[in-house]
Amino acid sequence: MPRDGFGREINYLRVSLTSQCNLRCVYCMPLRALPDPQEQRPLDPAEIELVARAAAGVGFKKIRLTGGEPTLRRDLVEIVERLARIEGICDLSMTTNGVLLPGLAQPLKRAGLKRVNIHLDTTSEQRLPTIMRFGTRERIWAGIEAAVQAGLLPLKINAVVARGLNEEDTVELAALTIGHPWHVRFIELMPLGQGACAEVARQRYLSNEETRARIEAALGPMTALPRRDPSSDSCDFRLSGAAGVVGFISPVSKPFCDSCNRMRLTCDGRFHLCLLNRDEIDARAAIRAGDLAALQRLLAQAVRSKPTGHRLATGRTNEEREMFELGG
Ligand code: 5AD
Ligand code: SF4
Repeated sequence: MPRDGFGREINYLRVSLTSQCNLRCVYCMPLRALPDPQEQRPLDPAEIELVARAAAGVGFKKIRLTGGEPTLRRDLVEIVERLARIEGICDLSMTTNGVLLPGLAQPLKRAGLKRVNIHLDTTSEQRLPTIMRFGTRERIWAGIEAAVQAGLLPLKINAVVARGLNEEDTVELAALTIGHPWHVRFIELMPLGQGACAEVARQRYLSNEETRARIEAALGPMTALPRRDPSSDSCDFRLSGAAGVVGFISPVSKPFCDSCNRMRLTCDGRFHLCLLNRDEIDARAAIRAGDLAALQRLLAQAVRSKPTGHRLATGRTNEEREMFELGG
């Protein structure tokens, strides 16, 4: 088992496939996002497979594909096919805005993808573009339906809550779980980088406690569900008689760093040790050389070097990278 310096078992790799995105939510990606001057060519499918094999070799069990928006990769189905074959990886999932899923959900399922998390901040057609800039309800909803039809289950919907933008819409989002066996999870805004997105995240932050109170005031009390996975970052509840689950992911008000089991890979081949810190280990030379043993050593080093936790409470964050580069 790969353990870090604080005894945490690190077995979950989040692989960013691109830092491009077709939506550019106001708290995630600037409208005009110049590519990071340091960013190199994105890894190709064989290179991604190599890193995943190294990860499985040192005890990683779960892989999630993220972005930016991972469905913008034309070789996404091939990437999934390659990763799904790796022994030891028992959970292969993806976080997406859903827009391109109508054409991709079936091929991805056939290629071995297990499930998806779809990002949706509001069910209001009118308000959606004020948050998820180039998104429309119709297109994201078509993606949700495609995911369900293809059996990419259990379906999880992620909503980031921002004061003055969608806090009232959390009630309707939570109500989706009454008739659907979906997980609707509310995420507290995190400031990343030093630009406009971090500013939005700081100004519009509201706690999940407030969101939970708003949902219960409108829809009645919820029952707390036992935590099934100790490293899950979500506190789960059920509305009375509901088919699905309402979850709260509260990195700011209730940090879950103690049970963090994650490592991240940037799209150009660096291990990023903690979302909210800047530390990275460059793995590009080992990847280019196709050196599996060297990659395993780097990964073990990355795991050992993970920081204990974040410093949001003291006003510090990861000033170097923004959310769209790290995929949440
Ligand atoms: N704070 C919290 N979550 C965010 N996401 C994007 N930006 C932020 C932010 N500033 C989430 C999205 C998506 C995932 C990639 O990260 O909801 O699910
Ligand atoms: Fe794109 Fe997702 Fe970031 Fe929105 S949250 S800009 S959809 S990557």
